[in-house]
Amino acid sequence: MLDRHSNDATAGGADYSPMVADSARRVSTAVVDTPSVETPKARFWTSTPGLLSMWFGLFGLTMVVGAMDVPFPVIGILTTSLFVTFLAIGFIAGCRTLLGIAALVRPPRNEPAPEVGLLLVKAFGNFAMAGLGALVAYVSTIRFSRGRQLRRLGKVLLPELEQASAWSSTPFVLSCDLAKRVPIEVANQWRENGKTEHASVAAFARLTLDLMALGAPPSLIKAANQDALDEIRHTEICFALATAIDGQRLSPAPFPEAQRVATLPRNRTLALAKLAVDSLIDGALHEGVSARIIAKLAQRSEVSEITAALKEIAADEGRHAAHGWAVVEWCRLEGGEAVEHALLGAIRALPHEMHSELPAAAAGGAWEVWGIHGNQLEAEEYQKARADVIARVHQLIEVRRRAA
Ligand SMILES: [Fe+2]
Ligand SMILES: [Fe+2]
Repeated sequence: MLDRHSNDATAGGADYSPMVADSARRVSTAVVDTPSVETPKARFWTSTPGLLSMWFGLFGLTMVVGAMDVPFPVIGILTTSLFVTFLAIGFIAGCRTLLGIAALVRPPRNEPAPEVGLLLVKAFGNFAMAGLGALVAYVSTIRFSRGRQLRRLGKVLLPELEQASAWSSTPFVLSCDLAKRVPIEVANQWRENGKTEHASVAAFARLTLDLMALGAPPSLIKAANQDALDEIRHTEICFALATAIDGQRLSPAPFPEAQRVATLPRNRTLALAKLAVDSLIDGALHEGVSARIIAKLAQRSEVSEITAALKEIAADEGRHAAHGWAVVEWCRLEGGEAVEHALLGAIRALPHEMHSELPAAAAGGAWEVWGIHGNQLEAEEYQKARADVIARVHQLIEVRRRAA
């Protein structure tokens, strides 16, 4: 198709693309129903090479005349001509570019759509979806979060604390001698963990709403609700454990921000892509990292009650990560290639390292015996989880492409 058009385009000495030539031909035919009487020579001087030739000619003439020390009005006229020609070239080139784009996306009358136009539109769409995926992934990984979270403009939303025992009354007994050995500051870090678990309850409620809005199957909605119940249990464990360490009765305060998070885009394809990337980052990656870290902490813990709590939470987080993958896979099946490009964009935007804010005393790993991770453990498990997520996304897409 390109070769056929290129003969037409170059026959008249025009420099613009075949599609532009075709578009220009159709426009002129629509306005005047008579054959063009323009000669190839006349068309050359209105073509971009012709205008460029004039520009260089005038520029050279200006240099020569300037060197000859001629009066100012002559130099002024030549310089003005140069500038006007320059503007004309820019204007014509801009118009021709717009005509070319229009011709690419609009098929000629009674002719099939140009393949190259479709390819261009498709390429732009894929690029846009990859950009969306990368943006969502970037915003969701600015700060590490334990599992699925609510965010506004990249900021993880967490509740404040208040004096109340509603979330800390779960019986949690530490052996007296061990309780005395745990640094009191460890309790505050367990409460920080508890705040993220509490916010995860709302995040899974949000997931349920998103899944229902998109018509997801009951298995995914059921899993989201079960995961929310798990997060309630994790919140209670974290706050009860903190109380067992320092004796303070604190609980999450009212959390109105839970209702003020952005909803999915109205367009179904965009919504599926956004939900797929959200689930890839918060579900598969963040829940996966949490499961890995907490499982390692369970091995390093020196307090049997804390070990038991860590084992329970690690098993749940591992299941939440698997549910995250199930959502990703469903979105991919529903959204097709657009979702795949969003996922590919997301894994390209994943940071190579992850840092969460830890108390200085915990950063070196000294609190891992009390169930609070250090920087090195976090970095190691993040690397493994990141590699796993990237490999699995490629695998998902590869399997689908081979089956297609
Ligand atoms: Fe959790
Ligand atoms: Fe979780």
